[in-house]
Amino acid sequence: MIGGTFETSKAGANVNMDQLKRQAAARALEEVRDGMQLGLGTGSTAKHFVELLGERVAAGLKVIGVPTSEATRLDATRCGVPLTTLDEIDHLDITVDGADEIDPALNLIKGGGGALLREKIVAAASDRMIVIADDSKWVPTLGKFPLPVEVIPFGLGATRRAIEKAFAECGVSGQMAVRKGKDGHVFVTDGGHWIVDAQLGRIEDPASLARALSAIPGVVEHGLFIGLASSAVLAGGEGIRVIERRKPKGD
Ligand code: A5P
Repeated sequence: MIGGTFETSKAGANVNMDQLKRQAAARALEEVRDGMQLGLGTGSTAKHFVELLGERVAAGLKVIGVPTSEATRLDATRCGVPLTTLDEIDHLDITVDGADEIDPALNLIKGGGGALLREKIVAAASDRMIVIADDSKWVPTLGKFPLPVEVIPFGLGATRRAIEKAFAECGVSGQMAVRKGKDGHVFVTDGGHWIVDAQLGRIEDPASLARALSAIPGVVEHGLFIGLASSAVLAGGEGIRVIERRKPKGD
């Protein structure tokens, strides 16, 4: 069963989106303790966390991080955050990452920045995943944000047909497009794959859709993060809201 508890603190009115993202990042930083091994997310909100973490490291905090993208690796290095890999350590204490959409069960759509594969590997290797966001990311139902599906370029036509079939079986439909970069060329992920973005509108059963997509051979990963987030820190004009996911008994 999944529910939520709420905690508020005054964030102040008249703040812009970037300030809200930084406030969410600062709240997540309060959970970080000396000696922790951290997953470092990707995107504009996660970048605030890396910068704030760098300030704490400069002041003496001892942590080590695993970046979820080459962009975050560069940011963390610039900010003086020591880095390692999942081959050198056996687990992560906390991953702090952004999201494109967050629903009340703390299921997520991620991958707007194209880093979903490493983000999911890192989140799954973590004891806790804290999602940080401005409160525009909070939605009653996932799906308005296009769902990123990371695919192998080989056999893309067959993979797309299999994805369409999975969509139909899960009661969703919508246009799919191979993602292009700002230069107009196909966007290539850090892993050398492509991304198909699917405009689904509403995803009533994200867990079933996640399972169906994961079963397709040409799909490397998809942007549905089901049951991975432990908590969400949402910053809005009225304050910061922390929503905890209640784990099922025995989990
Ligand atoms: C990166 O691949 C994504 O999963 C990001 O975490 C997500 O797009 C949120 O990014 P912003 O913090 O920039 O909105």
